[in-house]
Amino acid sequence: MALRYIVEVGDSVLEKRCREVTDFNARLHTLLDDMRDTLLDSGGVGLAAPQVGVLRRVVLVMDTNQEGLTDEEQIIELINPEIVSFSGQQTGAEGCLSNPGKYGVVTRPEVVTVKAFDRDGNPFEVTGTGLTARCFCHEIDHLEGRMFMELAERMLTDEELAQMYGEEEESEE
Ligand code: NI
Repeated sequence: MALRYIVEVGDSVLEKRCREVTDFNARLHTLLDDMRDTLLDSGGVGLAAPQVGVLRRVVLVMDTNQEGLTDEEQIIELINPEIVSFSGQQTGAEGCLSNPGKYGVVTRPEVVTVKAFDRDGNPFEVTGTGLTARCFCHEIDHLEGRMFMELAERMLTDEELAQMYGEEEESEE
């Protein structure tokens, strides 16, 4: 396992559509293991393969609503994820590991159900609420080459950022 470099906004790899995973092989497992290490090291709550320069439909999302789990145990691996249903609405600050220190106000569904495959190619469905639902949407957007800034109604000002950092440590996705 190893840390991978997280590319930042301006790199064209973040603007491309990712291809489906067809082989659930050792190469995929190495990518997932490296992404897990990279996400845990970053302090973020989600990571998409294009953020480490790989144009495949692979994302990690931390289910921060699960009480009593370690950070490592909160990680959900999603291969070829698709949103199958969503409901409700939340509006709040959203950031990205590929655009450090910047946050925008983004409206997302409050509850999101995703279908995906695990690392061995088994299909499953998972439902997330709140930050986890936001993170599902944010990471799946990365697979379409879409960043949160495109969806933000506005970016937070320096004053708002200072206030936010003062109140709590906000997570980057
Ligand atoms: Ni992101």
